[in-house]
Amino acid sequence: MLDYKAVLSHYPTAVPRYTSYPTAPHFSQGVGAKVFSDLLENLTADEPVSIYIHIPYCDKLCWFCGCNTKHTLKYAPVARYMNYLIKEIEMLGNKLDFKPKIQQIHLGGGSPSLLKSEDFTRLRSALDDVFQFLAGSEISVEIDPSDVNEDVLVGMKHFGVTRASIGVQDFHDDVQKAINRPQSFELTKDVVASLRQMGIKSINIDALYGLPRQSYARLMDTISKCVSLSPDRMALFGYAHVPWVKKHQNMISQDDLPDSHARFEHSMASSRALIGAGYKSIGIDHFAKPNDTLAIAAETGRIHRNFQGYTTDECKMLIALGGSSIGRTKDGFYQNVVATSSYEDLIQSNEFAAAKGLFLTEDDKIRSHIIERIMCDFKFDFGTLKDMTASADLYRNIAAEFIAEDPFNLASMDNDVFEIQSDGKPFTRIIASQFDAYLKGAEFKYSKAV
Ligand SMILES: C[S@@+](CC[C@H](N)C(=O)[O-])C[C@H]1O[C@@H](n2cnc3c(N)ncnc32)[C@H](O)[C@@H]1O
Ligand code: SF4
Repeated sequence: MLDYKAVLSHYPTAVPRYTSYPTAPHFSQGVGAKVFSDLLENLTADEPVSIYIHIPYCDKLCWFCGCNTKHTLKYAPVARYMNYLIKEIEMLGNKLDFKPKIQQIHLGGGSPSLLKSEDFTRLRSALDDVFQFLAGSEISVEIDPSDVNEDVLVGMKHFGVTRASIGVQDFHDDVQKAINRPQSFELTKDVVASLRQMGIKSINIDALYGLPRQSYARLMDTISKCVSLSPDRMALFGYAHVPWVKKHQNMISQDDLPDSHARFEHSMASSRALIGAGYKSIGIDHFAKPNDTLAIAAETGRIHRNFQGYTTDECKMLIALGGSSIGRTKDGFYQNVVATSSYEDLIQSNEFAAAKGLFLTEDDKIRSHIIERIMCDFKFDFGTLKDMTASADLYRNIAAEFIAEDPFNLASMDNDVFEIQSDGKPFTRIIASQFDAYLKGAEFKYSKAV
């Protein structure tokens, strides 16, 4: 039996979640505008794109939240922001003489579920003016169930939502008090039923382990309540406690947080419970019903990792809209300016908001490919690199060195195939970090890997 406590104390556990490589803290000021203009130049009528739209507002602030969002009790700032978002889409349209095809759209936040139906309709119509939605395109929205009412449901229907991603986190009262997120099971159940009635068939639920005052029994109860709602997918994230970045997390007492041992046990137990309930485990923290597209794609090594986690999206171009959104091209990343007021000022003066960014070097591209495949498939065939680079051995040696020095046999190498052992899978972020050239000497502090 693997002594996981020894593994946790042997390796630095504060490593990125690798929703991108290089990770966002390594983006540089000023580069974003150049990456964005490359994106505009390289858009074609044939190649479909994906779009991420950020809504940086919530009508309450949960203390655990790590997202880019702002608390507002009034709708006026949201309505104003929507005007700028629509103007940003129009500005994009003015630069194009064709309508790019859309494969996937994700509306994230914050809480897009606080939008009024008229704003969902305005947004859809602005997008329709500039893009063409492919038949079968996926339109997903993040939902805080406590926002949902008839008007929001109608808005989502008009927007064409195909997948709803519902935040649950934990159903226990005491845990909800510790994170300032009251949300009853009954309300959540009603919202899931209403979404299904509206024709939104695909449901994802987010739950968290590692929350304050969470116990094994409370977490197991949350998981079983989630399973009773029969979501198509579940994401089971480890709570990232980063109060040095997110000041409101200081409202959570350190004494209430489970230690690394409990976090590990909780993560393993909840994962076993979901697999026991018939879900397929996908990557490090997702689960899907066996007939879900994510589970089917995972079986043949066709899932990808992006800023939302695991996805079937194969588009090389991601257009980011709204403050703090991150977009991607084949050659780099760009991030729109984070502060909502700066975003609005730029759009007001007819300037695009791309600020930070990064151009990928050849080395970045290869490491990004290795890290993505390890995070998705738990293995990587270094033989495939020989056609991509003359330095294939350099990357293979990193893997070989890790195996030679790792006292726990977390991974193995058979010919050119590097593979994480089943005992080693909970440490995948740590293993992926061996291929991260930016980590050594990095000043940014990451959350716990397990
Ligand atoms: C952008 S959030 C918002 C969704 C929606 N506003 C809600 O609260 O249900 C998407 C998911 O990120 C996850 N999340 C937010 N803060 C986190 C943190 N500090 N650590 C880990 N996951 C976090 C939560 O599971 C949440 O459901
Ligand atoms: S978890 Fe969701 S509702 Fe809560 S503050 Fe974050 S984005 Fe807003």
